[in-house]
Amino acid sequence: CEAEGFRKITFYPDRPDVMARYRVRIEADRAAYPQLLSNGNCVERGKIGGGRHYAVWEDPFPKPSYLFAMVAGALACLEDHYVTADGKRVTLKLYAEPENIDRLDHAMASLKKAMAWDERRFGLSYDLEIYHIVATNDFNMGAMENKSLNIFNSKYLLASPETATDADYQAIEGVVGHEYYHNWTGNRVTCRDWFQLSLKEGLTVFRDQEFCADSQSRAVKRINDVRHLRSLQYPEDSGPMAHPVRPDSYMEINNFYTLTVYEKGAEVVRMYHTLLGEDGFQRGMRLYFERHDGQAVTCDDFRRAMADANGRDLSQFERWYSQAGTPVVTASTDYDAKRQRLILTLRQRTPPTPGQADKLPLHIPVRLALLDGDGREQPLELDGQGSLGDEAVLELTESEQRFVFTDLAEAPVASLFRGLSAPIKLEFPRGRDELAFLMSHDGDPFSRWDASQMLATEVILADAERLARGADCKSHPFYLAATRRALQDPQADPALIAEALRQPDEVFLAAQVEPVPVVEIHGARRTLRRWLAEELNADLRTRYHELSATVYSIEPRSVAARALRNVCLEYLVEGGDAALAQAQYENADNMTDRLAALRAVVHAGAPAAGSLLADFYRRWRDDPLVICKWLMVQAADPRPGSERRVQALMSDPVFSLRNPNKVRSLIGTFALLNHVGFHAADGAGYDFLAEQVLAVDQLNPQVAARLVAAFNSWRRYDAERQARMRARLEAIMGTPGVSRDVYEIVSKALAD
Ligand code: SER
Ligand code: ZN
Repeated sequence: CEAEGFRKITFYPDRPDVMARYRVRIEADRAAYPQLLSNGNCVERGKIGGGRHYAVWEDPFPKPSYLFAMVAGALACLEDHYVTADGKRVTLKLYAEPENIDRLDHAMASLKKAMAWDERRFGLSYDLEIYHIVATNDFNMGAMENKSLNIFNSKYLLASPETATDADYQAIEGVVGHEYYHNWTGNRVTCRDWFQLSLKEGLTVFRDQEFCADSQSRAVKRINDVRHLRSLQYPEDSGPMAHPVRPDSYMEINNFYTLTVYEKGAEVVRMYHTLLGEDGFQRGMRLYFERHDGQAVTCDDFRRAMADANGRDLSQFERWYSQAGTPVVTASTDYDAKRQRLILTLRQRTPPTPGQADKLPLHIPVRLALLDGDGREQPLELDGQGSLGDEAVLELTESEQRFVFTDLAEAPVASLFRGLSAPIKLEFPRGRDELAFLMSHDGDPFSRWDASQMLATEVILADAERLARGADCKSHPFYLAATRRALQDPQADPALIAEALRQPDEVFLAAQVEPVPVVEIHGARRTLRRWLAEELNADLRTRYHELSATVYSIEPRSVAARALRNVCLEYLVEGGDAALAQAQYENADNMTDRLAALRAVVHAGAPAAGSLLADFYRRWRDDPLVICKWLMVQAADPRPGSERRVQALMSDPVFSLRNPNKVRSLIGTFALLNHVGFHAADGAGYDFLAEQVLAVDQLNPQVAARLVAAFNSWRRYDAERQARMRARLEAIMGTPGVSRDVYEIVSKALAD
């Protein structure tokens, strides 16, 4: 029903601020639909004539219609319970098709963990006696927070070691948490209108991110969230669909369930937390619920609660909600040896976005430390403000500001925007030696990773530029040495080493240069990895075998070991050792290892690729979730001819244009993640996507609109690719009967 689905069931003013109590009577055939569920508590049920039965549900909490749900079906159920902090017993029931009943344990454990976490960290308990989650195979979104009756895409509910990867397990924990947290941030306090969507989504994403950070590794979680933000949200914020966290207008609200509303929205909430600290943030949350429980409110109400609870002026902070675009912060440092001081100058600007030519300065929290030659944090003495400790949060509010640090005996290395303390792009020109130093020595694990990414980006883009000139890639001693140090570090968390060894993906790299050198970026990245695989062969092999003894479990240590081992495997296969991966594939006792081996072999184009793919298919062709992985591996395969291979998979019996997960796995992966394949110079990828967008649009406009967004970056490519993409966009726009969903994306992509 979110956002405007209820009007398709019955006449109803389905704005979110129209709240009502619901009493729902469901009547159905008893044999075909043994389960009849709706929101709230079951107050009556019984048999009626003709083999039929009924149930009556009553939800005591007034709610907007988008939170309504009902389920009727023949489903198996896993039941458990949770006792809240104030001693109330809550029955927990998870439903799925009978054959999936043994894959619900992780979701149940995650739900109980999520409930306990919200009590501990936010002081929020569940408010009904029953909590239902139902898995379904055909679902457009990840999941939905319908009051006491969550509906889930089965991808985010079902898991077993044989069928789900570590990433799947983590995603399930995150999404189960996310929907549960909506009960307070979304359901008890909801949105006044859909422009305020980020009020509930940004806040709830922040809450689920924190839940996962507290339960797994905080640094690894932050690294993955930032990777996602930079690869996907930053491009959205600089393209034709750029919009503020609180959009000003829309044609189709379904198109605004975006990375900007969700992920940048979560960054905005994170900045309150950074500025106010945990205690101040929780004070703000308490005031927000005191004032607004049971109401439909706005992003301004949330900001006012944060400000008032802390006696802070957050009026400038409002611009984070109303200005689109990723701000650019330029930093420069000037060390004065005689006076032992460092001047840090920060400048900010936000580039123009559609409909917003001029931007005002934002209120930007800058978390920083200054490091000495051994990487130790130097005490921060800020001129005019005194001692700030080893790490501080500066507030940049003007378009240009100077900060003077005193009592520094040597020129420090600045570690800026630690943890990405604001969703900005940092321009801070510095040498590769300094980045390599930070990659090895910064005490903050996120910053070490961040330096590794900056260094890798620089190296790959410089090589891509060389390839474009007809020259060869170079060797990169700083990067090699720092990578070797990372790989050999006996103290570091293997999960963090794994992250340091993963270069930015091609989608991220493509967003850094214009016109995008498609083939050269791919070539430079691959050449760098092959070179590292060669130079580090012995180290990679040692690490790989050391980690092979790890016993499978989903505990963080076991997950971390697999992460690093599989990163090593990928390098070793790229370096020519496919036999290692083949053995791992055959001996794997879990999906993480099996899939990593399959992917490595297929993407390297090793001779075993065909037989492993056939084996995987034999094992999983009847499993709608697992077979999506088989589709994804092939859709992401960057070797020439990807469009033909994807096209051929469309006619495989496991594929269906009607199932959103399969469409996303095959067509979505190809168009949005296989950069070099989709942007093949002959335009075959473009023709294929355009054709599929129109076909999917007949069945599911929401999903079609997500796919067509792959063309949004068309102006960033060379003249020939531009012309081809533009022609496809124009053809789609000129097709009679195209949905409003697709029309909105395409018309904005073509607008001047
Ligand atoms: N409101 C839903 C969610 O984000 C939409 O998928 O959880
Ligand atoms: Zn949500």
